[in-house]
Order: sequence, then structure tokens, then C-alpha cells
Amino acid sequence: MGVKSKYICNPTILVVPVKCTLTEEVLIVGLGEVGGALFELFKEHQDFSVYGFDTDQQKMHRIVGQAEVPNKVDVLHICYPCVEQEKFVQTTLEYMKKFKPGLTIVESTVPPGTTGQVYELSKSSVVHSPVRGMHKSQETMKKDIQFWCKYVGGTPKEAADAAREHFEKLGLKVKVLRGPVETELAKLFETTYRAWMIACFQEMHRISRRFKADFNETVDMIEDVHRVRFNKPIHYPDVIGGHCLIPNTELLLESYDSEFLRLILESNEKRKVEIMDGDIRMEAEKVKARVRVLESDLALKGKAGLTSS
Ligand SMILES: NC(=O)c1ccc[n+]([C@@H]2O[C@H](COP(=O)([O-])OP(=O)(O)OC[C@H]3O[C@@H](n4cnc5c(N)ncnc54)[C@H](O)[C@@H]3O)[C@@H](O)[C@H]2O)c1
Repeated sequence: MGVKSKYICNPTILVVPVKCTLTEEVLIVGLGEVGGALFELFKEHQDFSVYGFDTDQQKMHRIVGQAEVPNKVDVLHICYPCVEQEKFVQTTLEYMKKFKPGLTIVESTVPPGTTGQVYELSKSSVVHSPVRGMHKSQETMKKDIQFWCKYVGGTPKEAADAAREHFEKLGLKVKVLRGPVETELAKLFETTYRAWMIACFQEMHRISRRFKADFNETVDMIEDVHRVRFNKPIHYPDVIGGHCLIPNTELLLESYDSEFLRLILESNEKRKVEIMDGDIRMEAEKVKARVRVLESDLALKGKAGLTSS
């Protein structure tokens, strides 16, 4: 990785050693919402030669064309979902064996201990570096990856330093945590925490309805405090959708048995049925409108704070 020396042979005079920067050979495996965006980011950067691989051949050829993946790469980015930990570890080990990377970066959201297992079984440099972003389009995902600080946890420690250098070269901000178990939990907590809060609003909505209270009015006091103390965000009590919050809660629950986590899933299943009632939907929509106003007010306040400091 990084700067390597290359020798240019001039047959008439002598062999001239020339130091130049060779491109890093990067392979992205799993070219979905995350991998596809990462592939584009690396492609736009002259310091990298990027290759892509996906089990979906059609998708792969649409994104990467007919380019052959070399037998050995500098950095391997793992971007396919982890549905089952053992299978994910085995699949990742197979890709590492096949492409012999100097560094493997697990971008996927994985249960705690997954990256550590990959290291124990491969004894090869591996880091976990979770992705934050929302895939409204590939462009928004690329922007999110560039906006958020890229957390890294590595085994051994030197692997984290190499990953930092790699991401910084791509122009990303990087923060290194103690190890991969910290980044694995950080990602799961970041999403599960939001799911927890939404489930809490689902339950408060149920309680309000039981007493025939106007839920939109009952949350006004929480909002009033949040506008001053920033410690009680409001969420609207709709079904938790998307493909992060609930799957990540399930991933965490598989590795840590928790009544708390189960409650999120149960509440959300209940809400799927409840929301079919027109009144419940309308009440949730009212709070949704309130949340929009609150978030935009706070964003404006934040901007004003930044410009006045
Ligand atoms: N999409 C998001 O908004 C988002 C945000 C943050 C984190 N994540 C995490 O990033 C990871 C990837 O998510 P995604 O949304 O890009 O998934 P995705 O479903 O959009 O894409 C996954 C891709 O991987 C391919 N794939 C599956 N198994 C493979 C294998 N064994 N070998 C090669 N390719 C394989 C699939 O064909 C697919 O193209 C997940 O762990 C997810 O939780 C996603």
C-alpha cells in the first residue's frame, strides 16, 4: 500500500530508479447500496484502482463492466449483509483466501465479536468500519459516507492505522476506537437506540388512547423541554420500517438475549396492525408534522449558533 518504488529501464543508458505513487488495488465485494456507493467513491479517486465483485452477475457487470479482478488486492472491502454470523465469517474467510488482501475492511453491520473471529481464523489484518448513511439514492449514500466520520476498530492495532491511512487518502474523516467489538456495538447501538425511542412513542401513544387523550398535545411538554435541554427528542409513533433499525435490533438480540430488545420487536409488530386504523394513522401523522417543525427549528438554531460563535 502507499508509496512503492518502480524501476524504469532506459536501455541506452542505465536502469533509473524512479519513485512514484502506485495506485492501491481495492476490491469491493457486495455491490449493493453500500458497496455500490463505495465503488463509485473509489473510482472517482486517482490513487485507487477499484474492482468489484457480487454474486449477482448482472448487477456486477452493470456496475463494473467486464473488468477481471486480480488474484491479489491491497484492500478488500466486505459489503454484503450479515444474516447469520457463522456463515458471514466463513464467506469472508473464503474471499480473503481468494484475493489475499493486505487489509480486509468489514463495512457490514455485524454482531459483536464477528471481526475478532475473522482475525482469529485468518491471522490476517482485519478491521471493522461500519457505514452510516441513508440510501435515498446512490448520490445521497456517497454524500453520507463522505459526511460522517468513519469509525475504525482493528485487529491487530496496526490494521486500524492502515485503515485510517486508506480512508484518509479517500478524503474521509476517521476515528479509531480501541478495537472492532467497540465499532460493532457502536453501529448496533446507534440504530437500536433510535428503534427504542420510536417504540417508546408507540407505547405512549397506546397509553394516551386508552385515556382518550390527544397524543399530539401530550408530547408538547416533552418537546418544550427538548427545545431547551436537547435531551428528550420526539419521535412519531409510526411503524419502524426501512432495512436497518429492525434487522439490527434482531442481530443484537441474537447475540445478547434481552427483554428490552424483544419489546421493540413486539411493539413494532403490534403497531403494524394498529396503524391500519385511520384514527391511529392520523394521530401519528400529526406528531410526524410536529417532529418536522421541531427538527427544522433546531437545525436553524444550530446554524445560527455556528455562525455567531
Ligand atoms: N443500505 C443502507 O442504507 C445501509 C446503511 C448502513 C449500513 N448498511 C449495512 O451495510 C451492509 C450492506 O448493506 P446494503 O444495503 O448495501 O445491502 P444490499 O442488499 O443493498 O446489497 C448487498 C449486495 O451484496 C451481494 N451479496 C450478498 N451476498 C454476497 C456474497 N456472499 N458475495 C458477494 N456478494 C454478495 C448482493 O447480491 C447485493 O448486491 C449491511 O450489513 C447493512 O446492514 C446498510
